[in-house]
Amino acid sequence: MKILSAILLAWLLASAAGAADTVSIYHSGWIDLDKNGRMDVYEDPSQPIKKRVNDLLRRMTLDEKIGQLWQSDTPPDADVAMAKKIRDGGVGSFMGGSVQIEKPIMRNRLQHIAVEQSRLGIPLIFGHDAIHGFRTVFPIPLAMACAWEPELFERTQTIAARECAAAGVDWTFSPMVDLARDPRWGRIAEGFGEDPYLGSLYAAANVRGFQGTNMADINRVAACLKHYVGYGAAEGGRDYNTTEISKFTLYNFYLPQFKAGIDAGALTIMSAFNDLDGIPASANHFTLTDVLRNQWHFQGFVVSDYQSVSELIPHGLAADDTEAARFALTAGVDMEMVSTTYPETLAKQLKAKQISMSVIDEAVRRILTVKFAKGLFDHPYTDETRYKTAYLLPDAIALAREAAAKSCVLLKNDNNALPLTSEAKTIALIGPLGTDAEQMVGPWYSRAHSQDVISLATAIQQRLPADSQLLVARGCSIIQTGRTRFHVGDYSQVVEHPTESNEIAAAVEVAQKADVVIMALGEPSDWSGEDGSRSTLDLPGLQMDLLNAVAATGKKVVVVLFNGRPLALPGVLAKASAVLEAWYPGIQAGNGISDVLFGDVDPSGRLTTTFPYSVGQVPMYYNHANTGRPGFGHWKGNYVDGPSVPFLPFGFGLTYTTFEYGTTKVDSGILKSGGTLTVRAELKNTGTRAGTEVAQLYIRGLAFAGGVRPVRELKGFQKILLQPGETREVIFTIHPRELGFYDENGHWIVQSGEYQVWICPNSAAGEPAQFALE
Ligand code: NOJ
Repeated sequence: MKILSAILLAWLLASAAGAADTVSIYHSGWIDLDKNGRMDVYEDPSQPIKKRVNDLLRRMTLDEKIGQLWQSDTPPDADVAMAKKIRDGGVGSFMGGSVQIEKPIMRNRLQHIAVEQSRLGIPLIFGHDAIHGFRTVFPIPLAMACAWEPELFERTQTIAARECAAAGVDWTFSPMVDLARDPRWGRIAEGFGEDPYLGSLYAAANVRGFQGTNMADINRVAACLKHYVGYGAAEGGRDYNTTEISKFTLYNFYLPQFKAGIDAGALTIMSAFNDLDGIPASANHFTLTDVLRNQWHFQGFVVSDYQSVSELIPHGLAADDTEAARFALTAGVDMEMVSTTYPETLAKQLKAKQISMSVIDEAVRRILTVKFAKGLFDHPYTDETRYKTAYLLPDAIALAREAAAKSCVLLKNDNNALPLTSEAKTIALIGPLGTDAEQMVGPWYSRAHSQDVISLATAIQQRLPADSQLLVARGCSIIQTGRTRFHVGDYSQVVEHPTESNEIAAAVEVAQKADVVIMALGEPSDWSGEDGSRSTLDLPGLQMDLLNAVAATGKKVVVVLFNGRPLALPGVLAKASAVLEAWYPGIQAGNGISDVLFGDVDPSGRLTTTFPYSVGQVPMYYNHANTGRPGFGHWKGNYVDGPSVPFLPFGFGLTYTTFEYGTTKVDSGILKSGGTLTVRAELKNTGTRAGTEVAQLYIRGLAFAGGVRPVRELKGFQKILLQPGETREVIFTIHPRELGFYDENGHWIVQSGEYQVWICPNSAAGEPAQFALE
């Protein structure tokens, strides 16, 4: 009674004061956490999660159950209507905007209503996209993959989790583990590239980084593998587009990263926007239930992508909201993100016996299980002061710098143009990205602030000795026409400054005064990421004209590229002495990149996507099947008007030294089932500087009646630091099970037969050894 009148009083106060009076709406602390004066099983932290979930489930009304299945986009400030919805148990989760202000106060206000004013006190779970950092923004995932160091990504995601948690985030919609072969697709920036082996290591490392080993730890957040599945195969690279993926390709290329993330303990998965075999991924029973639940035994919950349940209607699958909700839920989508087909139709459909209670119960059970695992029932609130001291800590900044330096890939370095030496007294920094602090954080920059970003100009200026000088000229704007991006931090639109008529000429004059020219070129960052598809892969705007004009001065030109996808770079490499692919390096962009330019850090990144000569070659990836007519010449299926090989292959990257590989050798020509095979090759640093090589192990299965195998498959790698003149034997051990592949039913098949094996510097190099698997 006391409780009821308190609720009534609060409600009256709230209604009288109107939506603006958040104090009365969010008034809290007047109801015991224990709703009925007893410690029920679900409230008892000493009980096992399964028991707590079962106990809670049997107390819930249908409406309360359906409420758990819905995630709301956060209103700018929760209003009276939303407060009532939470109080009625009508919402299970909030996304994104709840932490827009980077402070957990709003989150706690909403949580107080859920925990203290709803009938059963079920806590909300708050989700947010932290793809490559939160306030400390690290390099984009595609760049991080080029470090070939999953453990580095694990460390950055541990920091991201710590900063997220301090802002009140419980759950991140990350990592994106979509394999991508088409650089036109803007979201290639968010993933790890074109290889499922490397991608799987990165998926698992990301999950470990976010979740750690104890999910209830206040510095950890639940991970979400996305976008399940095939999203990266969007036809034409156009975002959200339809896909055409065979079961064989699905199992061997698109699914392994998800499987690896689940094996690493990921608590949630997001269903994708695209369709697959005619069925949208958010209503695809085969992928969501047959594979995910029945083959892989995934125990967590599936959240749809943003409105992807209601999008089943424009897809042409569902006639209306009712069908959309039914198709999604029965296929295996447990929580609906933002669209409202579940809350609006499921109760009616249950009454009409169009869906069963057990399907709803199962979805609720999965969501509650994750909420219990995250510790939300026992610690629903977050410390409202921690954020003040949690962001941009020294270890985070140092790691961001390390990651930026390790992610970049040296694509060309003629006559040791890099590293820069002290002889370069006058350095010209030319190009639209030299002084930039906006684009450096790339797409999905989370809570980055532009004042936290160290630009290349700032970093170079800071490290130059007194007898040297830096001259800066923009030369041209980043694009001439097209979409621009939003300001980091305050979300207001940037006005693009068009190139002025004399700008290129002015830049050339600056170049003429310099000993060396650094050109900072690239793409606007919102040309990558969601809805950032491109139909060309060239440098946008007048940047190529600028490069041509500056190169014509005859000065040594070092190009640093900031972009979110493989670009078509023959023209750039032809004009520059050195080219460093820096991607979008995050807030420590300038420091990390100048560490490499000046030789404090040796470049050690390697490409994880193929770089084509031109957009017309796309899709082009290293692990393709052979044709029946491989090679060059007539009737081989090559392009008549250009090269048919990659411009830069998967695995490629230079260093400041040179390496030589000896012959790949196997310790036996036969690998017995149950046995192991040792593969070795000598690796020598033949240059005059220490350097890090990424020695790569590839295999190829030669003749299998069960299906052709790719011309090469990555099966291992080692990052090896060698001093000048030093030689090391690189050794890999192969187990027969690693030679298998999935058949089109998802069974892992290991076939006996002939195999080739390489230890080499990239996917297009080296001579193989051969062995037979018995
Ligand atoms: C849509 C994106 O596809 C997805 O990656 C993201 O997690 C959600 N929006 C929520 O922001």
